[in-house]
Amino acid sequence: MENELLQDKLKIEPAAEKDWVEILQLLEENDLIFWFTGNESSKNFYIGKDIENKKIVCCFSIEFEDTIGVLKSFAISKKLQGKGIGKYVVNNNLERLCQQLGIKKLYAASIEAPQFWAKTIFKEIERSEIKDDYFLKYLDNFCDKVSNYFEKTHYFLLKS
Ligand SMILES: CC(C)(COP(=O)(O)OP(=O)(O)OC[C@H]1O[C@@H](n2cnc3c(N)ncnc32)[C@H](O)[C@@H]1OP(=O)(O)O)[C@@H](O)C(=O)NCCC(=O)NCCS
Repeated sequence: MENELLQDKLKIEPAAEKDWVEILQLLEENDLIFWFTGNESSKNFYIGKDIENKKIVCCFSIEFEDTIGVLKSFAISKKLQGKGIGKYVVNNNLERLCQQLGIKKLYAASIEAPQFWAKTIFKEIERSEIKDDYFLKYLDNFCDKVSNYFEKTHYFLLKS
């Protein structure tokens, strides 16, 4: 399938419980399970499937409390990375999902791919600009796990 076609037809939908093993495989191949905080389940995940072979091409989760959300576990299948799919998924789906979930501020943190997020509709912010406890508490999960976590991390915000 041509990539442009794949992007055009990539429908982002809530994950079902039966997708969980495949989601874990996608996260595993991208070394993202390391960042799990313990409350992950298919309930918070969204997926995009290749409509031809039905394989999961993309996944991410959105966790939120009131109007504050955190985007986590964003991954594109390794063999399809670097083809514009990640940017397409972020720029064409997240505002709509935030609206549906009542999220006014969606945060993301990245050590691995800050240049990717900078190319999307997210805006990079300084750590000092983060005032929402929900996101600050999420970040606390990692300060013991990764040395110099705060120095290495970039923060991004999508406001609606
Ligand atoms: C990071 C990731 C989500 C990006 O998705 P993708 O489909 O490969 O990225 P795209 O092809 O849409 O790239 C969009 C832009 O970001 C840039 N970009 C993508 N990944 C990048 C990276 N790791 N570092 C720097 N720039 C990157 C591309 O060069 C492209 O730039 P352009 O618009 O000027 O052409 C994907 O590569 C991935 O799953 N990586 C492994 C897991 C991971 O790091 N997830 C993010 C955790 S914060």
